[in-house]
Amino acid sequence: MTNRTFTMIKPDATLNGSTGGILGMINAAGFRIVAMKMVHLSAAKAGEFYAVHSERPFYGELVEFMSRGPITAAILEKENAVEDFRKLIGATNPAQAEEGTIRKKYATSIGENAVHGSDSDENAAIEGSFFFSKLEQF
Ligand code: CMP
Repeated sequence: MTNRTFTMIKPDATLNGSTGGILGMINAAGFRIVAMKMVHLSAAKAGEFYAVHSERPFYGELVEFMSRGPITAAILEKENAVEDFRKLIGATNPAQAEEGTIRKKYATSIGENAVHGSDSDENAAIEGSFFFSKLEQF
């Protein structure tokens, strides 16, 4: 799975009409979309996805935010996908994100940061299978 990563376009970006612009940047950077769907997560499902952060002070805020509106979940393919996608999205805090990154253009705060990208090949596989069955991955 080293050539695949998982992403979500988050509710802030969905609700302000940025989904198409973000997908355009993803395609322009050479990623191929191999699975994609829009989902409105319940608070329970958002909490389950981010369970690894359940002890963090921002967990409640994160769960509220991620269940506020629909997200677009996708699996992306490209050589060195995890690392290259982390570069494309930029720092978690948009104030520190470099020019030309998705978060620099679309994120408004450290919590509401427009996109998610997996941080390892192992998590990319886990997160992708949270949303997509094998039959839904192309
Ligand atoms: P993401 O890359 O999806 O992984 C965990 C998410 O938690 C992160 O993006 C942010 O949306 C959120 N997050 C991380 N740090 C903070 C913070 N200090 N305050 C609020 N939300 C945060």
